[in-house]
Amino acid sequence: MSKKSEDQNKHTPAQTLWWRFNRFLEHHLPEGLYPRSLIIVIAPMVLLQSFTVYFVLEQHWSEVTKRLSRAVARDMAAIIAVYEFSDKSETTLAKLVKISNQHMKLGLTTERKTDLPALAPKPYFSLVEKKLSKYIGNRVKKPFWMDTISKAEFVDVRVQVDKGLIFRFLIPEERVSASQTIVLLASMLGSSLILIVVAIVFLRKQIRPIVRLADAAKDFGLGREGEAFQPSGATEVKSAAYAFLNMKKRIARHVEQRTAMLAGVSHDLRTILTRFKLELAFLGENKSVDALKEDVDEMQGMLEGYMAFVKGDGGEISQDHEISQVFRNIQTQVIRSGKHIRLIGETGVRARVKPDSFKRMVVNLVANALRFGDQVELGAVVEGGLLVITVDDNGPGIAVDDREDVFRPFVRLDEARNLDSSGTGLGLAIALDIAHSHGGNITLEDCSLGGLRVRVEIPV
Ligand SMILES: Nc1ncnc2c1ncn2[C@@H]1O[C@H](COP(=O)(O)OP(=O)(O)OP(=O)(O)O)[C@@H](O)[C@H]1O
Ligand SMILES: [Mg+2]
Repeated sequence: MSKKSEDQNKHTPAQTLWWRFNRFLEHHLPEGLYPRSLIIVIAPMVLLQSFTVYFVLEQHWSEVTKRLSRAVARDMAAIIAVYEFSDKSETTLAKLVKISNQHMKLGLTTERKTDLPALAPKPYFSLVEKKLSKYIGNRVKKPFWMDTISKAEFVDVRVQVDKGLIFRFLIPEERVSASQTIVLLASMLGSSLILIVVAIVFLRKQIRPIVRLADAAKDFGLGREGEAFQPSGATEVKSAAYAFLNMKKRIARHVEQRTAMLAGVSHDLRTILTRFKLELAFLGENKSVDALKEDVDEMQGMLEGYMAFVKGDGGEISQDHEISQVFRNIQTQVIRSGKHIRLIGETGVRARVKPDSFKRMVVNLVANALRFGDQVELGAVVEGGLLVITVDDNGPGIAVDDREDVFRPFVRLDEARNLDSSGTGLGLAIALDIAHSHGGNITLEDCSLGGLRVRVEIPV
């Protein structure tokens, strides 16, 4: 038995059921906080209302309609019975019509020498029709015809009392159906609507500060300067927002201090290096001076490398930039230095990036590729909300086990392999730092050219 199913067996059935329920909710609830909260408020209300409606329809409405229909059927039966036992003269008939209309509101008229009409159209669902025809059938015990839909507000019932004599009852609807039920249902629906509107307005107000905080945090993560963020909303949300602002401030202060210190150090060292260079220039051309000059150049290169690493993005602001243009510039530089690079992928790609640090990142990756291979391909595409940059080469590549290590500062693989010994082992560390400051990441893969593919992904 696998470990997973063993683990599952340890749970009680109730726990498993709860776990399944949670998984069901996770799968089927909408993603956003706002729709989720709305469902949490509205779902119980709809459930409750449905129960109430069911109860009202089932119990109250059908019961009241039943009683009303029974009473009307009794009245009709009474009128017909009185007629049957009377002398059936026109005067008696007139009196009966008068009584039933004045006191019973039955809307009675008589029709002579006609038969019952053909069957009237039946409504799909009518409680009144069902109950009333049942009771008339039970009580009156005469052929009858009924129409509950043609006349608004009246139920038309015709009973064949004698051959050639029809009693036509036009019974007002309120005598047979519980019209109050509609009012009750309408008021329930109305109050639900009001509740839903209040919930929507209130929830929107509560959730907006959380959404704003999430946006601000996302902007910060992507290194973008979003619009000014002001904490608002419930206490907890506000305190989270203030904590976020404090954190942001502390990070900014930290970066600022680091940059200021570095600017100082680099200025001092550069001054000395420049002095070195000047003094070397005075020494003229000879072998040991040349070696010294090379050393000084290398030192300057290293110094710049360290600087770039610790400076990070130097608080640079993201802006909309044409990536393809950056690539073309890099290609021109590469060609000028006597090497070759091929641009692949889409042209005219644009994205929000920090222009200087973005360029430094691509230059670092391209420099590595050019150092290790002689065929290099650089490409950019935008897919699935990501700007994907690939740098491919036909060099020796990097073994899978080393792919994590090479991103660490000062790590250089197999010194002997690095023909050019001037590197400091900071190129990839700087590139990764820059990718992170854009909210993105760098991964290493194999590529079709036979060497390494460096894949940079930055959310756009
Ligand atoms: N395209 C590549 N093909 C093969 N190995 C690579 C490639 N890119 C980097 N590496 C390996 O990863 C190591 C680290 O690279 P990184 O760019 O961080 O430093 P570096 O190039 O040696 O020095 P720097 O970039 O600071 O001048 C390199 O020394 C090299 O061994
Ligand atoms: Mg490098």
